[in-house]
Amino acid sequence: MHLGIVIPTFNERENVQTITARIADALRGRDLTYEIWFIDDSRDDTPQVLEALSAAHPEVHYVHRKDARGLATAVVEGFARTSAEYLVVMDADLQHPPELLPVIAERLAEGIDIVIPSRFVPGGSDGGLNTFRKLVSWTARTMGRVAIRRLRHISDCTGGYFGLRRSVLAGADLSPIGWKILMEILVKGRYQTVHEVPYQFVDRDAGESKMSLREQWNYVRHIVRLVWSSPEDRRFYLFCFVGGLGMVVNLAVMSLMMYVFHLREVPSSVIASLVAMAHNFLWNDNMTWKGHAHPVKWRRALQIPMFMLISGVSLAITALFVKGFVWLHWSPLAGQLIGIIVATLWSYTANNRWTWKA
Ligand code: GDD
Ligand code: MN
Repeated sequence: MHLGIVIPTFNERENVQTITARIADALRGRDLTYEIWFIDDSRDDTPQVLEALSAAHPEVHYVHRKDARGLATAVVEGFARTSAEYLVVMDADLQHPPELLPVIAERLAEGIDIVIPSRFVPGGSDGGLNTFRKLVSWTARTMGRVAIRRLRHISDCTGGYFGLRRSVLAGADLSPIGWKILMEILVKGRYQTVHEVPYQFVDRDAGESKMSLREQWNYVRHIVRLVWSSPEDRRFYLFCFVGGLGMVVNLAVMSLMMYVFHLREVPSSVIASLVAMAHNFLWNDNMTWKGHAHPVKWRRALQIPMFMLISGVSLAITALFVKGFVWLHWSPLAGQLIGIIVATLWSYTANNRWTWKA
């Protein structure tokens, strides 16, 4: 097995030598060869240190990017430089223990596509972060896992330590902004199996963290972009958007019926709901599930009644929640809100399966 280890560096002059030695120690006597690629954007004399290091160690290579910055793009550059079949990405500051490399290599050799050292499985810890960073990190991770389906089962999707086989990247158009290259790969890559192994994220060996407010903002932008580039996630948000629009239409039509056409409340409400349903169907058919119309004619004809049936069940679900909340002496409005959320999840799943067959 030949391992390509990619290490992004920004002003890490005190660390590059130590990590090279620790990697050598960790992999000594193992049945594998390796190369290290430092992708460096430093503004200090790290490139000179790397030059000396690569002259002394044939397995060490480096690229210095003069005007570029960015952890994630540095990693992509590293993937392009090495031709190794198996890849590992890690930080230079020894917060990612090189002693885990043999475990990662072993799992990859067994055929696991992506191996992620995780701070959040039993045996792992994020001790190297202060309380504030832990909170920020938790928030970021939760946002990612709620917004993007493919991240939902990964406990540590925001870390910078992972291994993968190159085939995962085949056909993936990686265009990350900011730091989270692993998330980019998890969303766009082609893979079957992901394994997480515990590790302890310890304090930095030397130098300081380059995490900044700007990178946190980049992270939010990155999530939005990933949602947009992943059809299954995008569809869900479009569906919610159409639902919200439908609510506005519903209320507008109801007002029209009552105040302009002087209809009674109940018929106004029924007409408003029917118009909103038709409105939602049209948008979903032409936008949310564009290109997913049933090819068989009679099934196509059933799409509208199917959509209405599912909407009817949603209505019942919401009403049931209100009833339950009232029974428990809780706020009926809270019941309505929870009901709407559950009904949205239900109707999305049901429409996805039966109305449009995505
Ligand atoms: N080439 C390049 N360009 N490298 C960079 C840049 C850049 O603009 N910014 C940071 N790096 C390098 C650092 O030199 C270091 O090797 C690595 O990226 C991580 O940067 P740190 O400054 O040490 O980040 P951290 O410790 O606060 O956070 C890291 O660990 C967390 C836990 O795994 C990052 O990897 C986070 O993404 C991760 O969540
Ligand atoms: Mn660090």
